[in-house]
Amino acid sequence: MSVETKLKDITVAAFAKKKKSNEKITMLTAYDYSTAKYFDEAGVDSILVGDSLGMVVLGYDSTIHVTMNDMLTFTSAVARGAKRCLVVADMPFMSYHLSIDEAVRNAGDLIKAGASAVKLEGATQHIINVVQRCVESGIPVVGHLGFTPQYLNVLGGYKIQGKTAGKTEYILQQAIKLQEAGAFCVVLEMVPEESAKYITDNLNIPTIGIGAGRYTSGQVLVADDILGKFSDFTPKFARKYADLASVIKNAGESYVNDVHSGVFPSESEVFHLDSVSLNELRNLCGDK
Ligand code: KIV
Repeated sequence: MSVETKLKDITVAAFAKKKKSNEKITMLTAYDYSTAKYFDEAGVDSILVGDSLGMVVLGYDSTIHVTMNDMLTFTSAVARGAKRCLVVADMPFMSYHLSIDEAVRNAGDLIKAGASAVKLEGATQHIINVVQRCVESGIPVVGHLGFTPQYLNVLGGYKIQGKTAGKTEYILQQAIKLQEAGAFCVVLEMVPEESAKYITDNLNIPTIGIGAGRYTSGQVLVADDILGKFSDFTPKFARKYADLASVIKNAGESYVNDVHSGVFPSESEVFHLDSVSLNELRNLCGDK
């Protein structure tokens, strides 16, 4: 049996190269085959199968309800759609906290599902050990610092992080630990622009910002925010490039009206019997 492992056009090496040449890295989240296919064709460097799917796809109020099974299902769908860009899968809440062995096994399962890298939040000594073991095992890792949604209950809400020089320095030290453990990039979420710049300027690996201003090595946004599909809340930093909520609602309303009025289905949307079968059917009707 021959197994083909095709490297994507965009690899972790491309991220490093972009940081060196000051070229911005583009990342968007996606959770399904079609969206991944279109973003891939649009030219993004990376698709993140974010555990934000817990809110925007599954309707939970936070990311902490997302399971490994959820992530495996959505990661494999995205991987089938993304032919050239780098697919990163989030490790969900409690999938990497209990032991290093379990964390590496779960990370490996996400790679087997089609991801090229995994992302995990925080930089405690346990997380640093997990990052190190993943990288030693051949699993590229993205870190995630600043606001870390899986720590929502500890942080006490959706709060900007790194709001003082001291707190900024603390995040930088966490990022340096991730870098030394082998992470190839770090997501910085909801930190002041000046803090994100300081952190970015003092790291060798690229930073990808979300709500972190203009000076990170790249940007990431949630698909449902840029597409205008998720309307429960819109963060200040999310730019809306489309209004899919209206498109979907209008399409639904038109369909309901067309069915009610008998306009759907039309002649071009139905199947017909051939003439022989039609005659047989008419005879059957006559028999009754
Ligand atoms: O889950 C997610 O979508 C994320 C982004 C906010 C970076 O982690």
